[in-house]
Amino acid sequence: MAVRPIRTLPDPVMRAKTVRIKDIPAAMGRLIEDMVDSMRAAHGVGLAANQIGMRQRVAVIEIPDEEVRIFLNPEIVKREGERKVEEGCLSVPGYRGTITRSEKVTIKAIDLKGRPFRLKAEGLLAQALEHETDHLNGIVYIDHLESPDDLYKIDEDEEEVDGDPEGDDAAEESGLEEAHTSH
Ligand code: NI
Repeated sequence: MAVRPIRTLPDPVMRAKTVRIKDIPAAMGRLIEDMVDSMRAAHGVGLAANQIGMRQRVAVIEIPDEEVRIFLNPEIVKREGERKVEEGCLSVPGYRGTITRSEKVTIKAIDLKGRPFRLKAEGLLAQALEHETDHLNGIVYIDHLESPDDLYKIDEDEEEVDGDPEGDDAAEESGLEEAHTSH
């Protein structure tokens, strides 16, 4: 287990475009393990390689109660619909914002063995895919804010101890839990 520190703005690595992988290096499995460990330690649903200071075009996503997903060279090839979402980022701690994302996205990527695949996604997975591919292009969600008023400070301590178990169940059922995720 190797948890690496998450880089935050204004670290220039967050603005550098990552490099497409041509030959998958032997160390790639290890890098991805570190990404997954770092994402889980930070309670994130996704992480892009540059968030731990790496230059490769790699992202990992772990939607709650689903298996971790790994994307090498992810690229969004289709976007459908628009919706307003609340979003947070591990590289912009202490803030959340409301931005416009797609309802559905289709991405192409390769897996750890270099095999190409496509994935069509909606909901939180679509949001995470847009968020992580943005990171890999040097874009952070705050770039999508239509107004500075759509960005607001959060009390992170309060978020950690948010309510009693009954309250958590209610939030899950209403889908509000998604609103507390960061990438
Ligand atoms: Ni992020």
